[in-house]
Amino acid sequence: MIKKNFFSLLILILLINKQAKSDSMLDMGKDIFLNKASCSTCHTLKDAGSEGQIGPNLNDIRPEKITVINAVTNGIGVMPAYEGELSKDEIEAVSHYVSTVSQQ
Ligand code: HEC
Repeated sequence: MIKKNFFSLLILILLINKQAKSDSMLDMGKDIFLNKASCSTCHTLKDAGSEGQIGPNLNDIRPEKITVINAVTNGIGVMPAYEGELSKDEIEAVSHYVSTVSQQ
């Protein structure tokens, strides 16, 4: 009985930890969106409070994470490529952020 509770507690701690990690990735992604990469200049995204009109409204197109990663890494149309400017982790974070909050 004690052993079972111990494992339940362990799993709970692991789950909370995972949640905290993904939240910090969202925070990092939001910061990149608004500041480091200035995606906000060109894109409207409600969660970020941005109203850029040059690129598509991200709440309308609701891109999959892989779509964001591709656009940010390689650029698309007049949107610049960020490879070299953002690290792989930063591209991952901003893509996680955009694909998550644009669904809301
Ligand atoms: C200079 C303005 C500009 C900036 C800065 C910019 N974008 Fe874009 N973005 C565009 C334009 C324009 C398009 C549409 C390109 C096309 O379809 O020809 C686009 C398209 C996209 C798409 C859709 C891609 C697809 O396959 O349909 C996503 C997602 C996206 N941008 C995310 C981002 C993110 C995240 C950032 C910041 C890291 C960013 N953009 C920065 C202008 C910009």
